[in-house]
Amino acid sequence: MNNSNTIYLLLILVAITIVSCKKKDEYHSLDERIHAESKTGKNGGVSSELLLSDSKLLEITEGHHTFLIPERKGEIKSYACTECHTKPLNQIKGNGIQKAHWDIKIVHASADVMNCATCHNGNDMNNLVSLTGQTIDFNKSYKQCAQCHTVQFEDWKGGAHGKKVAGWAPPRASMTCVNCHNPHNPSFETRWPVRFNTEKVKERKDGLEFK
Ligand code: HEC
Ligand code: HEC
Ligand code: HEC
Ligand code: HEC
Repeated sequence: MNNSNTIYLLLILVAITIVSCKKKDEYHSLDERIHAESKTGKNGGVSSELLLSDSKLLEITEGHHTFLIPERKGEIKSYACTECHTKPLNQIKGNGIQKAHWDIKIVHASADVMNCATCHNGNDMNNLVSLTGQTIDFNKSYKQCAQCHTVQFEDWKGGAHGKKVAGWAPPRASMTCVNCHNPHNPSFETRWPVRFNTEKVKERKDGLEFK
């Protein structure tokens, strides 16, 4: 190998080193690099933002907690209610108008505790109503549940009841009560596990017969 070849080889090596070092030198500290790369979204990075980008969310603050919940009005079939509820209920009821919402039955608290008017205001159907007559936005229906279910509400605010959308990384986003519970029929059916074992069912049945 002659001298000029050696020089060329050296130059190439130096060039490669410069190119490969470039990436590291873009960032002045590890912290800066973590923040920059998590924005570009490698594995979602340390932010849930990318995973949340296609859902409609709104920010709420309850006590010391600020987080995002899914909006509801766009999901409710018969919203806006005032398309039909242009007059107070007593005026649209029984006027030969077809029955509506016949499929909605309250399977929640007993009838002496709760009826439609506990939660819906016949004079302002586009909003929910609190027990003391305050207006509650449909997007914040958790406020209505919170009036009676304080324990679950406190747990939910802190993130112990309910489920996070996306992941644990900030910004925090949580399902709201009505994403999981139907307000008209909120408890869940008891179900068999997904992997249904017919032998076990038979054993259980036989067991019951011997009781
Ligand atoms: C397509 C028309 C229509 C839409 C949209 C509609 N309603 Fe109604 N709603 C009615 C009619 C008609 C009645 C009267 C029903 C009857 O007498 O059987 C009624 C009755 C009710 C009642 C009283 C039921 C009772 O037994 O006292 C409530 C509460 C109610 N609606 C809530 C809502 C809410 C909340 C929305 C929106 C999320 C909504 N409605 C949207 C037509 C509608
Ligand atoms: C415990 C409170 C509560 C009671 C009692 C209640 N509702 Fe509702 N209702 C809600 C909430 C909260 C929503 C919105 C749910 C959501 O965001 O999906 C709703 C939604 C509705 C809707 C829109 C649903 C849809 O899919 O279009 C109608 C209609 C309605 N309620 C009618 C009634 C009628 C009629 C009664 C009485 C038979 C009743 N509600 C009793 C809380 C209640
Ligand atoms: C006016 C008070 C009141 C409001 C408002 C209310 N609930 Fe209830 N809820 C009750 C009562 C009373 C029961 C019956 C408790 C029981 O049987 O032990 C109940 C039962 C339940 C249950 C079943 C509990 C179980 O042990 O199976 C769930 C889930 C629930 N409610 C969720 C909700 C949600 C979600 C909302 C808001 C949309 C809501 N509730 C609004 C009073 C209320
Ligand atoms: C991600 C879904 C989810 C969300 C969001 C959610 N819950 Fe629940 N909730 C559940 C499940 C699952 C259970 C347990 C049901 C069972 O054991 O049968 C439950 C149980 C309950 C019970 C019955 C008592 C108990 O602790 O077992 C009440 C009351 C209740 N939830 C109210 C609420 C209220 C109020 C909110 C909003 C502040 C809410 N939930 C938000 C899924 C949810």
